Amino acid sequence: MESIPGIVKERVRNANSITVLTGAGISADCGIPTFRGNEGLWKNFKAEELATPGAFKRNPRLVWEWYNWRRELIASKQPGRAHYALVELEKRVPSFTLITQNVDGLHKKAGSRNLIEMHGNIWKVRCTSCNHVKEDHRVPIEILPYCDRCGGLLRPHIVWFGESINPEDLGRSMEALKNCEVFMVIGTSGVVHPAASFMSIAKEGGAFIVEINLEETPNSYLVDAPLRGRASEIVPQLL
Ligand code: OAD
Repeated sequence: MESIPGIVKERVRNANSITVLTGAGISADCGIPTFRGNEGLWKNFKAEELATPGAFKRNPRLVWEWYNWRRELIASKQPGRAHYALVELEKRVPSFTLITQNVDGLHKKAGSRNLIEMHGNIWKVRCTSCNHVKEDHRVPIEILPYCDRCGGLLRPHIVWFGESINPEDLGRSMEALKNCEVFMVIGTSGVVHPAASFMSIAKEGGAFIVEINLEETPNSYLVDAPLRGRASEIVPQLL
């Protein structure tokens, strides 16, 4: 990894408002495979084939088996240096919002406070009949799991492909994107909407854009400061 240019550290240090977007890459250093990396496949299924309402309708058992695999994988993992660096950054910056696409709960575990888990959380389940949401940390969860209130089938409380982001989460995210001085994008391929458009929204609002990723992404052309390397090594250096 190259050393971080002084201008980037200065921008981060002097900013009154910072918004951060994270993706699977920030948790990769904690041992959780990314979705589009080589280890992200389960039984040769891609996330797009399992994380959909249609897949759950056709075969809820298969989808729950995939989530049990992911729950087991995530259960033993701890937040890493990048997660903790963001907690520290939040303490220093007057207005700070962390938007994550990750459902692993590691930002919450690390102690981030103004956090938007826009794709939900793998440790929450929702009843497909009465919509009741509750925490459920069972590993493995029984297949199939049912609601203890109404007996309906439970599903992961996750925003799947083809489903809408909770309007309140989206509203808070837009607000934070339009009003930040620095927008930091960490470990996301930037191909899944709506997060894929966040960089251009922040850029239109005048934000200085920092991208931390092992490689270029389709959004890299919008970036003011591309920082190539591991999130766990780069993010702590920005403090
Ligand atoms: P991806 O798997 O698409 O992308 C992970 C990104 O992290 C890639 O651009 C990698 O280059 C980068 N990366 C990997 N290791 C890294 C490291 N140690 N440090 C920094 N960068 C690293 O994951 P997401 O962009 O998060 O949705 O995927 C977005 C959404 O698609 C997910 O939230 C999920 C998925 O299907 C749902 O589950 C609803």
